[in-house]
Amino acid sequence: MKKVLVLGSGAREVAIARSVSQSSIKNAIFCISKDINPQINDLCEDYLVCDVNDVASIVSYAKEKEIDLVIVGPENPLASGVVNALEKTGVGCVGPKKEVAMIETSKAFARMIIDLCCPEKNPQRKEFVSIAGVKNFMETLGGEYVVKFDGLMGGKGVRISGEHLKNLNEGLDYANEIIKDGGRFLVEEKLVGEEFSLMSFVDGKTCKHMPIVQDHKRAFEGDVGPNTGGMGTYSYGNHSLPFLKKEDVLEAQKTNELVAKQLLKHTGSPYVGVLYGGFMLTKDGIKVIEYNARFGDPEAMNVLSILKSDFLSVCISMVEGRLDKESVLFDKLATVCKYVVPVGYPNNPAKGFEVFCDQDDPSLFLASVMLKDKKLIACGSRTAAVVGKNKDIWKAEAFAEKGVSNISGKLFHRKDIGTEDLIGFRVKRMKGLLG
Ligand code: AMP
Ligand code: GLY
Repeated sequence: MKKVLVLGSGAREVAIARSVSQSSIKNAIFCISKDINPQINDLCEDYLVCDVNDVASIVSYAKEKEIDLVIVGPENPLASGVVNALEKTGVGCVGPKKEVAMIETSKAFARMIIDLCCPEKNPQRKEFVSIAGVKNFMETLGGEYVVKFDGLMGGKGVRISGEHLKNLNEGLDYANEIIKDGGRFLVEEKLVGEEFSLMSFVDGKTCKHMPIVQDHKRAFEGDVGPNTGGMGTYSYGNHSLPFLKKEDVLEAQKTNELVAKQLLKHTGSPYVGVLYGGFMLTKDGIKVIEYNARFGDPEAMNVLSILKSDFLSVCISMVEGRLDKESVLFDKLATVCKYVVPVGYPNNPAKGFEVFCDQDDPSLFLASVMLKDKKLIACGSRTAAVVGKNKDIWKAEAFAEKGVSNISGKLFHRKDIGTEDLIGFRVKRMKGLLG
């Protein structure tokens, strides 16, 4: 009997808990998070309502319940050192130690690691803690730049010239805002191309790669509006994307392998967990946009919905360092995941309103909600995700739309994600860029 503790309570953690519950290895699921997710609760033996960054409470709960394995959903507990503390007490974790998770928690650290193992994957960039030299560097980049807060901002700390930043002054204003709060930031060359996510299971030595997924970070249809945690994702039955060649996929896989190896060399700690490479195919080849030290959200819903192998067995192999012996297979199906989010999300989201849906629907993944007087109440972040899967991506998209239409509340979603129009447009735009 494996006692598995899941940290976090979003849609990604619903996907994780469901996958564990479907394992052929006998298991009991426990969860810690600040709100009770009713879908995770249904799968759980016990649920502790607690801050996922409260390391001492997590460790004592794990001891009390004799937990065998902890799966860390979000990034913040990694940064708080929860894995370091749990491993000291002998509990295996799917998730890297704090010093290794810096690949996500510090954008400057990530760029440095990439410089050491695959420098050609980095854009031009410079780090700053003051305004000195910022304007000059923005001008050197021809006014085409990105300002990135160097820390965790839930995907919302990045602003792009010509989009969020209309002119150099707005770029400098954002830089000054970060400096005022005592923060560090990077100014990077603005890359142009198509983004994609490649996640790999890693046991410190071996990487087993997942299907490639494309996320949609912008809040509104047509890829406009502020950056969000991710509004939806799709993947193809061949586990690649229509604008990628076989060599591109292999190159992204190689990059994750090199980064995992470099992290071990640099920190002395093996990378154990899911390594998420955020890439962009540009006219100058594949570049790294960012690294995450966990499953992507929504990407987890795409890949776990089609994982053929036993997820708990894969997790145990990661922790025990024998992933090379594990076959990690996915169904050859396309997936489309769409998030419904509160009106006003991400800047000024509605909250406290009732959400109506069928909680028992296996294609529904509840996220930022809580139960109050038996009613489902939205808490303000992404509310729920729906996943469609099918051999035919357009059917998967139609299924996801139908699922979304069964959810009601003060919500909106991006109808364009996974549609023939949007994917066709992207493929054409990429062809144009590559010439
Ligand atoms: P990040 O939090 O680093 O993933 O950035 C959020 C989003 O900002 C990415 O998904 C990209 O759409 C965009 N972005 C980040 N860095 C760059 C860059 N150097 N060039 C162009 N877009 C970028
Ligand atoms: N989907 C982007 C992320 O999980 O950071």
